[in-house]
Amino acid sequence: MAPKTSIAKFTHPGEKVRILLSGARIQRRIREMAAEIRKDFPGEQLHLVGVLKGAAFFLGDLARYIPGDVSFDFIAVSSYGKDTHSSGQVRLTRDLDSSIDGRTVIVVEDILDTGMTLSYLLRIFQQRKPKHLRVAVLLDKPERRVTAVRADYVGFTIPNEFVVGFGLDYAERYRNMPAVGVLSFTSSKTKGKKAQA
Ligand code: IMP
Ligand code: MG
Repeated sequence: MAPKTSIAKFTHPGEKVRILLSGARIQRRIREMAAEIRKDFPGEQLHLVGVLKGAAFFLGDLARYIPGDVSFDFIAVSSYGKDTHSSGQVRLTRDLDSSIDGRTVIVVEDILDTGMTLSYLLRIFQQRKPKHLRVAVLLDKPERRVTAVRADYVGFTIPNEFVVGFGLDYAERYRNMPAVGVLSFTSSKTKGKKAQA
């Protein structure tokens, strides 16, 4: 059995985390998603495209659990915004290493929130003529959506709360927490820092 996450090791003064998804539960779900993806594209070479940095761990596990021919690449974007909300302005900060022309591409993202990031990326990728273009997200917050974008593979649908862990950060912290939890503040001192993509 996987050890229980000790939240105290990750929290800073003034912050509180309530575990929403345990590490073991996340791993179980990623295995299921991997099997589903492979079932949809049997025998195909699958090219996973992860959105840095949040999707790094999700992509790593997904890639290991999908049997057969899998390659991957990373892209980085930045979205501007204050606090725990992004402004919706997306900019490409690191492009892919290789062409996706004619490939079966699965975009791998940590969380689908407003949908601005994914709709921006899908627009770019579609122009590059992949054979198939699909989206896998670990988390989906449908309540926050402002663009009509949906994921083909969703790990967990979660309520409209700010979450950290398993790649997701608050001020670059918590990414290495093996579980996903809801972050709240017990004092106003630490408010106002920015979450990075
Ligand atoms: P969207 O463009 O609003 O869909 O937001 C996508 C990006 O915002 C994600 O890839 C995350 O980097 C970040 N984000 C959205 N919600 C959360 C959250 O609850 N915790 C941490 N980061 C988040
Ligand atoms: Mg992200």
